[in-house]
Amino acid sequence: MIPTLAWTPEGVRFIDQTKLPLEESYVLATTYEQVADVIVTMVVRGAPAIGVSAAYGVVLGAMRTKAGTAEEFAPEFEKICARLAGTRPTAVNLFWAIDRMKGLFGKLLVPGATMAEVRTRFLADANAMYEEDIAACKAMGAFGGALLPVEGGVLTHCNAGALATCGYGTALGVIRSAVEQGKRIHVFADETRPFLQGARLTAWELMADGIPTTVICDNMAASLMHAGRIQAVVVGADRIAANGDFANKIGTYNVAILAKEHGIPFYVAAPWSTIDTATPSGDAIPIEERPAVEVTHHGGKQLTPHGVGICNPAFDVTPAKYVTAIITERGVLRAPYPESLKEMEFVAG
Ligand code: MRU
Repeated sequence: MIPTLAWTPEGVRFIDQTKLPLEESYVLATTYEQVADVIVTMVVRGAPAIGVSAAYGVVLGAMRTKAGTAEEFAPEFEKICARLAGTRPTAVNLFWAIDRMKGLFGKLLVPGATMAEVRTRFLADANAMYEEDIAACKAMGAFGGALLPVEGGVLTHCNAGALATCGYGTALGVIRSAVEQGKRIHVFADETRPFLQGARLTAWELMADGIPTTVICDNMAASLMHAGRIQAVVVGADRIAANGDFANKIGTYNVAILAKEHGIPFYVAAPWSTIDTATPSGDAIPIEERPAVEVTHHGGKQLTPHGVGICNPAFDVTPAKYVTAIITERGVLRAPYPESLKEMEFVAG
């Protein structure tokens, strides 16, 4: 199993995703500020992994405080949550995890409650989120794997794999499960400019599993689809709005339009913690703008002329009309999404 992040007695250990695939090294965060930094710098990335990392960040905040009781800790707790929530705006899993810790703290905040108690309960809940995330990926995989063809090419964008979750992955979990079901899948991984999550991370983790993978530049998908080499697309999501529009890595929208044009099914795999029914449509999803240096430079080498204008939105929004199905751990949802999302929330929630 790929060790994306792990709780240790010293702190949270992250595989450094900025260094993969050439170097497998680890970063240990021992304070909540360090957890916030590893999220901002994308040592850890991917919506579910960010959420669970933030929960462990809150645990570290509670471990390092000088406060002796929950009441004394309350103002510091707010500061810790605000710092972690300010790291990346698009993936709703971050806010979902912080809100869950806030809900727990609300219950623990009774006169006389000690920090020892708070620490124990915080760690238990962060560990539960970690385990639930892996279980959700496995369930999603089983539902989604059944949708993929018995044989053929499957295109994915960015990295929605073990590295983006606590293990197994969402979109890559669907592919893993299809392979486990005996399907002969060949993955086409978009390189995913500018951070190259596809070329570096998806390729690395699929190769580790022995799943046949070909990296393509982002501008090659149309041609491969036209040539009949792609039978399905499966991607992850950072936030799914109440109407089924969803945000995912920049370039996902292009792929969705291409899939529709070529009559290829386009699946979105995401845990329920990515669904944000409080956001009515994709227009209301905040899109993170990342530093220009991610576009101007690669591997420390400058690619563009000094002073040129740069635009670097990290995500785009794909309208629901392009989505063949949303695969969750609760089951597979089909259009109309406002109704199917509400129904699934009501039945399972
Ligand atoms: O900027 P990143 O690398 O955090 O973006 C990640 C993605 O867009 C993933 O596709 C998404 O978080 C789903 S991960 C299971």
